[in-house]
Amino acid sequence: MRDYEFYYTQDGSIGLYSYEDHDVYHSKFGALTEAWEKFVMPSGIEKKLNTVDNIRVLDVCYGIGYNTKALISYVINTDEKLLKKEKNFKLKIKNIIKKYFPILINIVSIDDNNMNIKDERLSNPNETRYSKIYVDCLEIDKTLVKISPLLKTIITPQEIYTKIVPKIFDCFSLYWKIKKFIGKCFKFLAPKNKKEIRELLDLRFNNDYDEIENEYRINSLTNYIIIDSLINHYKNNYFDDDLKKIVKDRKFRKYFAPYLIKYAKFKQDFRYNFIARFNLASFLHNIYYDHLSKRYNKIKSKDIEGLFKLNFFINDARKSILELNGEYDYIYLDAFTFTKAPQLWSVEFIAELYRHLSPTGLIMTYSNSALVRNTFIENNFYVGKICDKKTGKFIGTVASKEKSMIEFPLSNYELGLCSTKAGIPYHDETLSSTKEAILKRREIEFKTSDLMSSSKYLKYRRDKLLEGLDDEEQI
Ligand SMILES: C[S@@+](CC[C@H](N)C(=O)[O-])C[C@H]1O[C@@H](n2cnc3c(N)ncnc32)[C@H](O)[C@@H]1O
Repeated sequence: MRDYEFYYTQDGSIGLYSYEDHDVYHSKFGALTEAWEKFVMPSGIEKKLNTVDNIRVLDVCYGIGYNTKALISYVINTDEKLLKKEKNFKLKIKNIIKKYFPILINIVSIDDNNMNIKDERLSNPNETRYSKIYVDCLEIDKTLVKISPLLKTIITPQEIYTKIVPKIFDCFSLYWKIKKFIGKCFKFLAPKNKKEIRELLDLRFNNDYDEIENEYRINSLTNYIIIDSLINHYKNNYFDDDLKKIVKDRKFRKYFAPYLIKYAKFKQDFRYNFIARFNLASFLHNIYYDHLSKRYNKIKSKDIEGLFKLNFFINDARKSILELNGEYDYIYLDAFTFTKAPQLWSVEFIAELYRHLSPTGLIMTYSNSALVRNTFIENNFYVGKICDKKTGKFIGTVASKEKSMIEFPLSNYELGLCSTKAGIPYHDETLSSTKEAILKRREIEFKTSDLMSSSKYLKYRRDKLLEGLDDEEQI
């Protein structure tokens, strides 16, 4: 773990850098935002949620779990029943104010329209139902998986301000404006990246984080759900000596949330070592979690834990994929770039993903490269682009067995690019070749190929454009 370095990405979420691989695990523009924009949102999960019984997701390259965390948070946040409970709090405040200080209702602007909608929802508790979410997470690095739910989620100035100002102000519409303004004033409180890492990763912001949108926030229950799943997976080996060392390490300590560490320790001791290690601390923790902790009680009261079933496969994804059964509705493919991890972009590995994708399922990946797209095409997928709805930019690739699932198909120009030399895919028939062997094999194919080079193709397209023969695309 000493070979890693944590850093804050521009949305305030924590990213990871590996000195060994000389590579970042997350976008410096926002580890969490990337998970939402490239994996959760393009999946269109909202159409399935609460209308089907089960949704199955495969997270290939779980890392520190942003994609799975973003998914769980999305499901919880959009879940009508849970929202009802949160809004109930505001209703209670409104009723108290109405009863004891009726005059205040006219002075402070309380959002009455919203309240009515919430009132209606509350009166009809059977109006929604839950889908059960199964997530299988594949990752080779056990340490990353173990630390994933213990990391602080987000540390923007706004977040700090939210902690300082009591929740009671939540019910005033003015609150959001004040919050935004004071958030800016509290900028100096936001944590800074170390100078060395700022220079190494060319992080141009300092503690000037972009405000993360509400919908992108990690729901506070998410980490509890992951901890519980990891304790189920590892039994009494989850919070082991190695993990204890990492969370206490001076280099990493500030990135971990003490309350999540306490919860993990308590949960493991309570479940597996409670009688052997009975002491006052465990006893008090027990009372705290069972009766006082609001967050934990929220999980219990709504049986949120039961809604999610997370399985962890800690091995080379090429081996894990062979152990999996059934089909997935969504596959998140978040491997390192293909020159660093060609094993997970080979025709044969993608063929395994094809085998495990449901007929209307979707594979999402951040890569826009001709090689990756062509590997999908070679496996008979329909291929399209992930569009960032705000900027209109294409930020990734999506593949499906069903044509109608592709919202933004590849253009003729992009399809042409896939059939140049740039699109020559990797091969790994045995799903066990070394990275070097896979790279070498493609290099030889590339050199001996008769296909057009991508630069020649670009020139050819440009000439055609100038001749006015093909004005379909910009190059
Ligand atoms: C770009 S990072 C993924 C980041 C991750 N999705 C997150 O939210 O933190 C790539 C991950 O792939 C993992 N990895 C590399 N080779 C692998 C393999 N053969 N099988 C499974 N995981 C692998 C690395 O340990 C790393 O965590």
